Amino acid sequence: METKILLPTEENIRLAAEAVASGTPCAFPTETVYGLGANALMRDAAERVFQAKGRPSDNPLIVHFGSVEDIPLAAQTVTPVAEKLIAAFMPGPITVVLPKRECISSSVTAGLDTVGIRVPVHPVAQSFLRACGVPVAAPSANTSTRPSPTTAMHVYEDLQGKIPYILDGGACRVGIESTVVLATGEIPVVLRPGRVTGEDIAKVCGDVAFSKGITDTVRSPGVKYKHYAPKVPVTLFQKQSLDKVRTYAQGRSGLIILCLKDTAPLLSGLSVRILGNSEQELAAKLFAALRDAEKEFDEILLEAPEGVGFGVSLLDRMQKAAGGNHI
Ligand code: TXA
Ligand code: MG
Repeated sequence: METKILLPTEENIRLAAEAVASGTPCAFPTETVYGLGANALMRDAAERVFQAKGRPSDNPLIVHFGSVEDIPLAAQTVTPVAEKLIAAFMPGPITVVLPKRECISSSVTAGLDTVGIRVPVHPVAQSFLRACGVPVAAPSANTSTRPSPTTAMHVYEDLQGKIPYILDGGACRVGIESTVVLATGEIPVVLRPGRVTGEDIAKVCGDVAFSKGITDTVRSPGVKYKHYAPKVPVTLFQKQSLDKVRTYAQGRSGLIILCLKDTAPLLSGLSVRILGNSEQELAAKLFAALRDAEKEFDEILLEAPEGVGFGVSLLDRMQKAAGGNHI
């Protein structure tokens, strides 16, 4: 199958939406990462997504809508906690997990009786999702275990030949996936940290819990994850251990260091690429930088943030990309 990258004109959005509604998955931009959308009412369509990504079938997909008003089409009940989260953060980079309605295919939710629901704020995502006219199940549009795609070209690299259309909405503004929050109980539980932080959620809901493992720091014992991984090894470092970086870099000619702007002058003489001025800028460039670096270098050293606020979310992705490696 030929894969076309389409500018998001009204006509092209309709073309991709018609394909999705009739069961053929297509990729679309959101403010977090690109998604691979499938009709959530059709078992076959969801199965094609798992197949295209090479994703284990026990990992549930998030259901997307173009408007907040449509959430009850997928959720059996909208809990008071979910109502608060929706009012404060949606549309936006957050996913709420709620009891699912019967109509959502169990292949979408991997057999769970809950469903993750997200309403992106990206204008192309909203137009596309509204044009689909059905709930759209969409994981990140990467091959399973690869860094998530933040440009149409990243999607093309991974899924070329497997899907007909990729809507090109430019580079994603947030750059890491949505915050996933279990909202079935009285206290929201962060299952995956993201741009909306635990602190943000606590302000709105009065309290917040984290599922185990989320707040681990760089120094915690490295469970060997396989997620967000480029083709070359990644090792994390922190700004307070630059002497270790210098020692490590000696004699390693294929090494690139990815860091914040303030850190770069402290690593003079080494091969350095600046990812931005802030954690937000770094997040927006992280996955693209990993994909770029693997093409030119043998090894990546990546500056890790402190594990507070938004740093928790960045660190989560980085630790997984690094498979727990750090110096
Ligand atoms: O920003 C995002 O969330 C992107 C864009 C495309 O919307 N999507 C995304 O999907 O990152 P994916 O499939 O790569 O990650 C979905 C995450 C997984 O960690 C999955 O386990 C969790 O959400 N999830 C989905 N449904 C769930 C449910 N019912 N209960 C618990 N976790 C769920
Ligand atoms: Mg993913």
